Amino acid sequence: MNAGKERSRSLWMEHPMDFDGPPLAGDLTTEILVIGSGIAGLSCAYELVRSGHQVAVVDRGPVGRGMTARTSAHLAFELDDYFEELRSLRGADACRQYYESQCAAVDRIEEICRQEAIDCDFARIDGYFVPAEEKDAEYLRKELNAARAAGFADAEWVDNGPGAWRSGPALRFPRQGRFHPLKYLDGLVGSLHRRGAALYPETPIVGLDEKDHQVHARTGTGGTITAARVVVATNSPFHLRIPIHTKQAPYRTYVIAGPIAKGAAPDALIWDTLEPGYHYVRVQPGSDEDTLIIGGEDHKTGEADDMDERLARLEAWARERFAELGPISHRWSGQVFEPSDYVPFIGRSPGYDQVYVITGDSGEGLTTGVAGALLIRDLIDDGVSPWADVYDPGRLMLRGAIEFARENVDAAKHWAARLGGGEVASLNDIRPGEGALVRLDGKMTAAFRTEEGDLKLCSASCTHMGCVVRWNRFEQCWDCPCHGSHFCPDGEPLQGPAFKPLSKVER
Ligand SMILES: Cc1cc2nc3c(=O)[nH]c(=O)nc-3n(C[C@H](O)[C@H](O)[C@H](O)COP(=O)(O)OP(=O)(O)OC[C@H]3O[C@@H](n4cnc5c(N)ncnc54)[C@H](O)[C@@H]3O)c2cc1C
Ligand code: FES
Repeated sequence: MNAGKERSRSLWMEHPMDFDGPPLAGDLTTEILVIGSGIAGLSCAYELVRSGHQVAVVDRGPVGRGMTARTSAHLAFELDDYFEELRSLRGADACRQYYESQCAAVDRIEEICRQEAIDCDFARIDGYFVPAEEKDAEYLRKELNAARAAGFADAEWVDNGPGAWRSGPALRFPRQGRFHPLKYLDGLVGSLHRRGAALYPETPIVGLDEKDHQVHARTGTGGTITAARVVVATNSPFHLRIPIHTKQAPYRTYVIAGPIAKGAAPDALIWDTLEPGYHYVRVQPGSDEDTLIIGGEDHKTGEADDMDERLARLEAWARERFAELGPISHRWSGQVFEPSDYVPFIGRSPGYDQVYVITGDSGEGLTTGVAGALLIRDLIDDGVSPWADVYDPGRLMLRGAIEFARENVDAAKHWAARLGGGEVASLNDIRPGEGALVRLDGKMTAAFRTEEGDLKLCSASCTHMGCVVRWNRFEQCWDCPCHGSHFCPDGEPLQGPAFKPLSKVER
């Protein structure tokens, strides 16, 4: 079970994945175990198999139904937190490494599509960074200089942006990309099969121990997978309690999609300067008409309860700019992790010798997932990667002083919430289909009432580090505001770092 069980359905989920293998029964020995079958895990598995390794992939849910199924699938190598910010924080070399790795990721996707004959609507298109307000044009100038210094030589200033932004300036980034993410993953799965890799869905890993140069991964059904190396590509690392989770913050982000006449919206990636939660727009081509995909309205996970208003604002914003947008056919949300120094954590896992990790996706987890696969392949095969420094999971966070402290003060507040009052005074106040926090016998309880009126009661303490979870009305799940775990209404884990269910409350 995973985030695929959250209530909303993305446009991509209409594509049925061509895979229905059984879960792992019993034990397994393999050279490399990859945990997670999203873009990061399947890309790692692909690179390692192509490099001659024996690989097995496990996922606690169905293959390809994690956050990759909830993306908007821009393939951009302009940094979405901006090169100007990364340069001032970590310097020119970090920008250069980031730019090179992201370019390489899009090149690699294009190459794999060609070599493996994956038909996933991949296309190279322009990206446009547009001002949300007139005054932001000044920032565009700074970002253009920083992007060029990072290596983006053909990024350019244009006096007239795309479509609705035609009367003002924009930055144009050539050679960006788009694709259908699940058609792409399907292609990778087919290729992994042909090359002899093993895939096991519905196989959660609940512990990792290193001993005698082997890693032992315990499965949720009591089995053990023994591997010389393990890659944790679970979006949020479940095997670490503190390192990394205190350096990145979870944000919910929202997407709507609807039909639009061919040519009525530019086939480009567009994103604006709004902070926090910039808007992001792209088109998915169809045979008779296109689908326009618009995202934004981000908030820290568990800290908003106005999802309907957010989706309505997103739609109003889109209709102002795309008058020909038809009725909205899809509304969905997902979660991204924002590292406090803007760059994901990819490389050897803190606390382990033979375990590697990919996390900290920000809004660019597709390209950082593919870049991460190349980086980890090089670390395993050669012991070095030209991008190891910028993504080093063990790096000191220079931005710690303000951002790091702010995020962790928030976490302390959510942990202390267990001592406060509930959101409702009694279970009778919870209507069918709703969840709320209620204090029962002195304990903070996460209570959900099914449409049939039955109650599901769990402890409200997240099984990662004990913060109090919050009901997400839109996705019908419990979200942990501290480090981004999600749980089903009955407490089963959907998204890490937590991997244990909320404990049941009996009455
Ligand atoms: C709304 C939205 C829009 C986005 N837009 C973009 C965009 O335009 N461009 C871009 O580049 N990025 C974008 N992103 C980010 C990007 O989509 C994600 O970062 C990326 O898909 C994450 O891939 P992943 O492989 O790390 O994680 P996932 O796809 O979540 O895969 C991780 C897998 O690990 C499994 N797993 C977890 N724990 C365990 C365990 N203990 N045992 C076994 N399996 C486990 C899960 O079941 C899951 O299938 C967006 C994200 C969202 C939510
Ligand atoms: S995710 Fe860390 S306490 Fe919940």
